[in-house]
Amino acid sequence: MKHAIYPGSFDPVTYGHIDIIKRAATMFDDLTVCVLDNKAKTPLFSVDERVKMLRKVSENITNVRVDSYYGLLMDYARKIDCHIAVRGLRAVTDFEYELQIAHANRTISGGWLDTIFITSSMEYAYLSSSAVKEIASFGGDIKLCVPPIVEEEVIKKMKIRHPEFYKE
Ligand code: PNS
Repeated sequence: MKHAIYPGSFDPVTYGHIDIIKRAATMFDDLTVCVLDNKAKTPLFSVDERVKMLRKVSENITNVRVDSYYGLLMDYARKIDCHIAVRGLRAVTDFEYELQIAHANRTISGGWLDTIFITSSMEYAYLSSSAVKEIASFGGDIKLCVPPIVEEEVIKKMKIRHPEFYKE
């Protein structure tokens, strides 16, 4: 039984993440998508909101479950007895950061937690949650970046934070 974790902030989940979820779900018997804290980022959505959106967008993929954890990825991986993490790679600029985290996880887990990388599909190579938030914060269209249920939630937040760009 091959099981992998796809960890991330998912603030919010984008079509780029969904592409990785779908492809990883065909490579493993089970895929656990886990919302974790990235200490370098201040999130727009609460963990519960992010989990709810992830559950909705992955509800038709039967071998995917969504969870959250406050702590180290390595500790979560041990808790659910899963030693493979999946991460998406968009461009060479992702590589240095991802390589560092992968090495850190392998080292602090005593070699137990390995990371494998899936290259993002070309059409999503530009896409990030940060770009989605920036575009939406100026009233821009994010339809090509996120599914409708996520777009709705992002717009709800932006109408409160940046009402000047969302006048009726
Ligand atoms: O989507 P992101 O923000 O690139 O995801 C980064 C994330 C959440 C996977 C990473 O920050 C993480 O694993 N955080 C939990 C703490 C941890 O285990 N850090 C790894 C050792 S440096």
